[in-house]
Amino acid sequence: MPVNPDTRSAASRDPEAPVRRVRVWDLPTRLFHWLAVVLVALAYVTERENWIDWHVRIGETLLALVLFRLLWGCFGSETARFARFVASPAAAVDHLRHLFHREPDRQPGHNPAGGWMVLVLLALLFIETLSGIYVYNEVADEGPLAGIVPGWIANGIATLHAVVWDVLLVAIALHLLAIVAYAAIKGHNLVRPMITGYKRLPGAVRAPRMVSPLLAVVLLIAASAVVALLAAYV
Ligand code: HEM
Repeated sequence: MPVNPDTRSAASRDPEAPVRRVRVWDLPTRLFHWLAVVLVALAYVTERENWIDWHVRIGETLLALVLFRLLWGCFGSETARFARFVASPAAAVDHLRHLFHREPDRQPGHNPAGGWMVLVLLALLFIETLSGIYVYNEVADEGPLAGIVPGWIANGIATLHAVVWDVLLVAIALHLLAIVAYAAIKGHNLVRPMITGYKRLPGAVRAPRMVSPLLAVVLLIAASAVVALLAAYV
């Protein structure tokens, strides 16, 4: 289902409608985002410097965060939920057709096209960090999988880890390009809300429902426990 249907109301299409400050991103989603940015950068540096122990710790932390975000996408606040922001491909294309129209921002969460980008980024982060658990050794056929699966599978996972990293970099570049495009073409500042949690939206746009951050803590503990088990026993 696409984003908040309230955004399509007649009142919200009125450029003169009074705007108000609406909380669009909860703290867990914002923390997840900026921690992911820092951890991806650290993963890059530690890999380049061959600090493999740190690279592994960072990858495992990132995997726990991504697992948490997947759970938060099911049980979290309205704008974080997959069911709210994953629109049909037709809605995404329709949204992109209006990319060059300068109009006020009336989106309380991810737009229908951005939602797909978010899914791609999360999927790539998930595959990258999960495959990383299996290849922390520089030589894949001496890694933790060596005794469990044939060498060619272990090597395949190592290749996957390398290839998905490159795809992730391309996706991040597109992500940043989209943010710059929204600022330059539509005049929408998407970054400030990802920092503060608030957007100025037409009064007719309903404020999204937020879930207690305590649930986020519980889900983060659960996600971390799963990763600790994976790292210890695989
Ligand atoms: C390692 C680099 C990055 C990754 C992997 C990444 C990933 C993501 C993901 C997964 C989301 C969805 C957030 C959620 O719903 O949980 C997102 C949203 C967002 N990111 Fe990033 N991001 C990166 C870098 C950046 C940077 C450097 C900026 C700012 C300059 C940025 C700005 C944003 C904004 C504004 C959104 C919300 C977009 C919207 O309003 O729909 N991201 N990013």
